[in-house]
Amino acid sequence: MKKIKIGICLLMCSALLFSCKTDKKEETMPETTEQQAKKSGIIKADYGTTPDGAKIEKYTLTNEKGMKMEVITLGGIITSLTAPDKDGKYEDIVLGYAKKEDYFNGNPYFFGAAIGRYGNRIAKGKFSLDGKQYQLTVNDGPNSLHGGKGFDKRIFTAEEVAGANPTIRLTYTAKDGEEGYPGNLKTIVTYTLTNDNALEIDYEAVTDKKTVVNLTQHSYFNLSGAGKTILDHELQLNADRMLPVDATLIPTGELKPVAGTPFDFTTAKQVGKDINATDDQLKKGGGYDHCWVFTDNNTKDLRHVGSLYHKTSGRYMEVYTTEPAIQFYSGNFIDGTKDSKTGGKYEKRSGLCLETQHYPDAPNQPKFPTTVLSPGEKYTSKTTYKFSVK
Ligand code: GLA
Repeated sequence: MKKIKIGICLLMCSALLFSCKTDKKEETMPETTEQQAKKSGIIKADYGTTPDGAKIEKYTLTNEKGMKMEVITLGGIITSLTAPDKDGKYEDIVLGYAKKEDYFNGNPYFFGAAIGRYGNRIAKGKFSLDGKQYQLTVNDGPNSLHGGKGFDKRIFTAEEVAGANPTIRLTYTAKDGEEGYPGNLKTIVTYTLTNDNALEIDYEAVTDKKTVVNLTQHSYFNLSGAGKTILDHELQLNADRMLPVDATLIPTGELKPVAGTPFDFTTAKQVGKDINATDDQLKKGGGYDHCWVFTDNNTKDLRHVGSLYHKTSGRYMEVYTTEPAIQFYSGNFIDGTKDSKTGGKYEKRSGLCLETQHYPDAPNQPKFPTTVLSPGEKYTSKTTYKFSVK
């Protein structure tokens, strides 16, 4: 009898213990991706596998206000970035392909990518350092553009960085001789989505041989959300000169005042206002595809250099940088062949790039600020895109 009682008691106890355990399990059940995505922080997910078999990760950064950015480890590409309009409606304000294959098969427009080792063009893909000539990969007519098979097509290692704002650090080491450039170049691109709705981008690079470096970001903004073109956006640039280009978009070496030309954005002006004016430089670029030199270009301080405004949505983006210049590219080569993530195809001028940088072809133009990086030195650069409404 006693044995039976003990037996029953043991059974009840273990049932109780089991139920406690189950309850506890329920309490610590992991949140669904949807629940997590509503909170600020970072979520890591698989993005897919490239045709070469490389696994790509996607990081979703969400700030306390609900602004969200998606970044993939391929090319450090920002595939999506949301910002609120004047009614508080969050919409994606960067272009991105509807199909992953368009990222995996070369990202023809450089959508959202981290660009290196040399953003923009180097004439004939050639330059000399200390009397030695280097031949780079030529991938844009006769020139080298955005580093040849550049960082936009490479896989970065990602790390989350602890702190008040969601931050992700992406590292890529380009090999000595890669795409023709000298030196193993370790590059770190850090994206921070601050709680006051700014995207901060910090670049760092070190080399073990003298080389050239010019890093930038190639997001195409369209502040309307899903608008067809950016011609109705108002752009302002604190830049009193620009670099005229030849027929292959290489700077001629002249620094030309913008006053009285279609290139004058010193006071805010609609992108579409003068884009079709009869002008030799606009003809060469097929629109705006030029480097503007900031009036205040002799500083390494982070300062306000321009802004972009979309009146209908009220979205306003301010640009801050430590760089001396900016490539404003009005999306002239977008040709209606790629599916848009908001439906339909991306047409000519459906987005614009504001690529902060040193001057194109600087390695061949001794009068331009130097882009040479030597062993023992550290390349640093910072750009902030700050979002608000007006
Ligand atoms: C840069 C160039 C443009 C174009 C785009 C990519 O911004 O300046 O001419 O090549 O990249 O399409």
